[in-house]
Amino acid sequence: MIPIFRPEINKEKILKELGKIFDSGWIGLGPKTIEFEEKFARYVGAKHAIGISSCTAALHLSFHSTGIKEGDEVIVPSFTFASTIIPLLYQKAIPVFADILPDTLCIAPEDIKRKITNRTKAIVVVHLGGHSAPMDEIWDIAKSHNLLVIEDAAHACGSEYKGKKHGGLSDTKTTCFSFHAVKNLTTGDGAMITTNDTKLCEKLKKLRWLDINKSTWDRIATGSYPWEYRIDELGFKYHMNDIAAVIGLAQFKLLDKHNQRRQAITQKYNKGLGELNWLEIPVEREYTKSSNHMYIIKTEYRNELHEYLMSKEIQTTVHYEPAHHYKVFKDFPAQVPVTEKIWKKLLTLPLYPAMKDEEVEKVIKKIQEFGKSLTR
Ligand SMILES: Cc1ncc(COP(=O)(O)O)c(C=O)c1O
Repeated sequence: MIPIFRPEINKEKILKELGKIFDSGWIGLGPKTIEFEEKFARYVGAKHAIGISSCTAALHLSFHSTGIKEGDEVIVPSFTFASTIIPLLYQKAIPVFADILPDTLCIAPEDIKRKITNRTKAIVVVHLGGHSAPMDEIWDIAKSHNLLVIEDAAHACGSEYKGKKHGGLSDTKTTCFSFHAVKNLTTGDGAMITTNDTKLCEKLKKLRWLDINKSTWDRIATGSYPWEYRIDELGFKYHMNDIAAVIGLAQFKLLDKHNQRRQAITQKYNKGLGELNWLEIPVEREYTKSSNHMYIIKTEYRNELHEYLMSKEIQTTVHYEPAHHYKVFKDFPAQVPVTEKIWKKLLTLPLYPAMKDEEVEKVIKKIQEFGKSLTR
């Protein structure tokens, strides 16, 4: 079976580095997390990076720390994974679903404008599959209505918008990256929040660990291990640990290489499938350089193609059924006609750095064969 995703792990390096931290006796939030944060911040061009236990937690902390609270409306795509939206419900905020652009599948600025009310507090954008949302238009809307912009960059590790990496873009409050098992950079589970706001960074560093104002490592690193600390407000247990950080640092070394391989596979797919008139290949707009986290095609024959490819030992799936279809969001009705129409056509094909050329060619060949059976 050719899987949809498959993590490629820097195994030797990770095992060696894990051995070292096991010997050091320190595996919690400490020097490796700090090293990973510094390297990640430099890579994306942000002032600060804060290591977190998951992107769901990173989004929740972003919403909480920026003051999104009960009754606030937050504009968010329904076409995303539930993690983008569920943390808004933790805050008792109101998700207001916006539609997507039919080509890139990212949030549509025109629909954001339509959904703004005097209770709107923030816009959450998702860079679907690694393709940037149209940020200039979104920042303009946000500025003219005094709204926060939070980027869900779970798919966009290494993606660029107009030549700059997501994570350091100045008109965004926080950007949240996921290091979940199948993401472009994995630590098993983990995440990073990046921000250019120094005060917010300090707040996030406390809130991720129960609002304790000095981490144990910081206290130990003084040499005298003062035990006093303060807890002023209600925080969370959301920090990264040094085991995840060691894995992250090793995987980080491979990120650009892996993203290049993803791009090469995308190009092969585009070449092999671009001529087929019964499906649409994904677009890449001139303002983005995608991390190519997913390869999503559009076809009226989505369900039949999925069945056919499964019978040929090729896994495919659907990203995503619109979130507002799920019962948990029943109190938040959505007017998103493009999303409703398009999701029924979407199919995600296998894409991962270790995918061999023969495997990519097999997928293309089987899709072409399926196409021939349609015209017979
Ligand atoms: C768009 C999006 N946002 C957020 C998340 C949550 O990431 P995590 O699993 O790190 O909590 C995911 C995970 O798949 C995602 O796809």
